Amino acid sequence: MRSFQMYYAKTFRGVLMCAWVFLWAGTPSLSAAVLANAAPSPVPPADYHNYDYDYYGDYDACLNWQTNIQEIFLEKATVGEPMTIRCPFSECWDGFSTTWSRNGVQLKLNPTTDEVTQSGDAGEQLQFPRLRQEDAGAYTCQMTNGTHTFVGNVQLDATNPYSTTPPSMEPVDPPKLQRGVGEMATFVCKASYGVIGPATFPQLYWIKNNTFVKNSNRVVLRPSSRTDSAGSLHMNVSLSIHHLLDEDFGQYTCIAHTTFGWMAQNATLEKDESVLVIEKPQDTV
Ligand SMILES: *[C@@H]1O[C@H](CO)[C@@H](O)[C@H](O)[C@H]1NC(C)=O
Ligand SMILES: *[C@@H]1O[C@H](CO)[C@@H](O)[C@H](O)[C@H]1NC(C)=O
Ligand SMILES: *[C@@H]1O[C@H](CO)[C@@H](O)[C@H](O)[C@H]1NC(C)=O
Ligand SMILES: *[C@@H]1O[C@H](CO)[C@@H](O)[C@H](O)[C@H]1NC(C)=O
Repeated sequence: MRSFQMYYAKTFRGVLMCAWVFLWAGTPSLSAAVLANAAPSPVPPADYHNYDYDYYGDYDACLNWQTNIQEIFLEKATVGEPMTIRCPFSECWDGFSTTWSRNGVQLKLNPTTDEVTQSGDAGEQLQFPRLRQEDAGAYTCQMTNGTHTFVGNVQLDATNPYSTTPPSMEPVDPPKLQRGVGEMATFVCKASYGVIGPATFPQLYWIKNNTFVKNSNRVVLRPSSRTDSAGSLHMNVSLSIHHLLDEDFGQYTCIAHTTFGWMAQNATLEKDESVLVIEKPQDTV
């Protein structure tokens, strides 16, 4: 919306001025006709771009541009979707050619083979037909008019689209353990959820005999999670049982759950009968 206002203000300022002149000249019917023709259709401009400051009405986006060009403009985009980035403030002066770099390396753009193309009168735009994860990075555009050169900075972040599939899981580590009564056992369960959108409710939990495994004085659950650079969520939960009792042996199931479905992995805790259990001395009656 903001960018539409900017487009509107820049493009139609001249038209409105013209209409105002007609109004002033005292030909209301003609000025009404011009205004009707000038009414913009509510279509955002193709060179959609959000600058990092608020823009209202007559605010001049080019004011102090030679200072503001030193800022880094952040662009967020989704992997797999088309994306265009634009050299900041290129509309504020008449540069005629642009050199683009990513992470300090100059881009060699070959129009016949490259996924990425340079466009605009001065090459001030980079167009990604389908954004890839590796397109993310720190871009600089070096734009020149022959006597002067200005450098703009754009940070392009790429995240995967929201996941709409069930989580994926690795087998429990380890899938099977043999332990004696009184010993300790630990299983680690891991799941990946992709990029979490609204109302996805990612969960990872253990069950045994159809009931949730809960923390107790002998049972310790350690959940942890992280989000990787592509925006995907990974969770793990370790289950440790201390001072094993007979009732602890059997099959445990770890479940990864979202609103889009679930996955499960089993772990088996087997009793090692060879472990000698030293009974507490019994009270003599
Ligand atoms: C190049 O741009 C600068 C800054 O806008 C301007 O001062 C200079 O006159 C321009 N040079 C040419 C050759 O247009
Ligand atoms: C499983 O749970 C049911 C009740 O929910 C109980 O009757 C049964 O004994 C349990 N089985 C084991 C092996 O713990
Ligand atoms: C579990 O996740 C945490 C946080 O991401 C990580 O530091 C830890 O190494 C993971 N544990 C295992 C066993 O993968
Ligand atoms: C886990 O065990 C259940 C019942 O014993 C079985 O139906 C299921 O297929 C097992 N899941 C996996 C991933 O091995």
